[in-house]
Amino acid sequence: MLVDAKEMLNKALSGHYGIPQFNINNLEWTKSVLSACEEEKSPVILGVSEGAGKYMCGFETVSAMVRAMDKALGITVPVALHLDHGTYDGCYRCIRAGFTSIMFDGSHYPIEENVEKTRELVKAAHEAGLSIEAEVGAIGGEEDGVIGMGECADPEECKRIADLGVDFLAAGIGNIHGIYPPDWKGLSFETLAAIKERIGELPLVLHGGSGIPDEQIEKAIRLGVSKINVNTELQLVFAAATRKYIEEGLDKKGKGYDPRKLLKPGAEAIVEECKNRIAVFGSKNKA
Ligand code: 13P
Repeated sequence: MLVDAKEMLNKALSGHYGIPQFNINNLEWTKSVLSACEEEKSPVILGVSEGAGKYMCGFETVSAMVRAMDKALGITVPVALHLDHGTYDGCYRCIRAGFTSIMFDGSHYPIEENVEKTRELVKAAHEAGLSIEAEVGAIGGEEDGVIGMGECADPEECKRIADLGVDFLAAGIGNIHGIYPPDWKGLSFETLAAIKERIGELPLVLHGGSGIPDEQIEKAIRLGVSKINVNTELQLVFAAATRKYIEEGLDKKGKGYDPRKLLKPGAEAIVEECKNRIAVFGSKNKA
């Protein structure tokens, strides 16, 4: 069932677990993620970046595909269809396309402009019945070709954005998108605690969830993180399983070149990885 993400995240905050945001990239991805979450009875947020949306022929195509697939697979767990790192225009396009949740990433604007644009989009999202995430303090690494430097957000700026009525907040705490470099210093729990102290009962979002040691994720959840975004980890397991299939020459045996066979190991690897993440985040049987 497609829902906005507000209630599932508020429940996760009070129940001290994390909701997975798994980013989707194509039909197989979506099917694997939905199937894994249904099996584990975990609520889920399907993240769609603007680049992935474009790749999948636009937000309307994505929305129609997810809605039809949710029905066809008989999914019973709550599913939010969420724009990831949205631009101002992208947010309006997703509202019109039938998404149930949006993220406005105004972290690259001066704080005053981030505040004004977020304020406007909170109103637009809520009037249309969507939940909204905002961001303070750019997340490091690369997201759709945009390289951020990985900062720790200013707790006072977090408070200003939180007070606008956003439903959940992404704040940089040393996290980075993509693969973590070997000299990465880990999450800044002091920053996380200081932000939490200022914003109170508002669910926090941890971007760049791939490759963070499990103990750090568990500690972040204890300190108020309620949503963890995972994209790269699913891409890595998909690529590894597909490479193995081809390196073993299985595409050349019988009709092994049939895409339904060729993409199967990758799709199954995504299901397994989603289940692993759900176990760490504690969202199993929380639907
Ligand atoms: P990773 O690709 O590092 O898992 O980050 C995903 C993310 O934060 C999407 O917003």
